[in-house]
Amino acid sequence: MTEIFEAIKESAKQIKSIIELGDSSKSDSSNSTGDTQLKLDIASDIVIEEIFGKISSVKQIVSEEKDEIFTINPEGKYLIAYDPLDGSSLVDVNLSVGTIYGIYENEFNGKNLKASAYIVYGPNVDLVFCDGTASKLYRLRNNEFVFLKDLKLQNTGLFVATGSTQQCWYPHHKKMVDDMFESGYKLRYSGGMVPDLHQILVKGGGLFSYPGASDKPKGKLRQLFEVFPFALVFECAGGGAIDGQERVLNVPTTHIHDTSPCFFGSLKELEFVKQAYNG
Ligand code: F6P
Ligand code: MN
Repeated sequence: MTEIFEAIKESAKQIKSIIELGDSSKSDSSNSTGDTQLKLDIASDIVIEEIFGKISSVKQIVSEEKDEIFTINPEGKYLIAYDPLDGSSLVDVNLSVGTIYGIYENEFNGKNLKASAYIVYGPNVDLVFCDGTASKLYRLRNNEFVFLKDLKLQNTGLFVATGSTQQCWYPHHKKMVDDMFESGYKLRYSGGMVPDLHQILVKGGGLFSYPGASDKPKGKLRQLFEVFPFALVFECAGGGAIDGQERVLNVPTTHIHDTSPCFFGSLKELEFVKQAYNG
């Protein structure tokens, strides 16, 4: 696991440099889910592929940008799913973007997630690494990641971040969000899941949701690359992550690009979700 952590740090430094080159133009290709790829998405993907391709403890890697799983070392222990540059369309408006990693064993599914990590590229470059017991926050200082603190959620927070197209929300979701605003919660949503979730984690509580809706009943966020890695971080920070009712890490995966409705937050906010989604 140490060499994987080192590889994550190295790839973060290289992706930071790629973002700083400032080329946020589109490429001629689209990824497996049909999103137009930016040159930045492709360059970040290549950085991770090259770095992880040299690690003998890695059996397989799969990128959110690709359709296939690549085998690195058939004898390796770990399976890595990664989103090289989440929210990349926000680079041209100068909002924060991120990289996400899920580190699995045996099979790519929630129950086999052993560790996870994400990086936020913003005014600072922050890295959170979760080994399955604690979610640790590091910050890039003089080209080295320095440990800042363990992330710990309070029982409740102030913020609500909720995605998807409001017109397509189901009535029970709309009612839940309206009730939360009525009771004093504030909206915080940039459209990049990494900074939006990081905000809730660093500020100590709240709720992020990407619900199922009439246009996308299973939501938009991908289980292996986005939902499961953050679910582990939230659980290890004293909060949780559910699909509306169930622990989202128990939801089965049948295809690498499966999506799942998801709700991440502190424990009190997850109770609101369970009540709103009950039945
Ligand atoms: O990768 C998906 C993503 O860019 C997330 O970072 C973000 O939370 C979500 O899409 C935003 O989607 P929407 O605009 O539908 O709320
Ligand atoms: Mn993404």
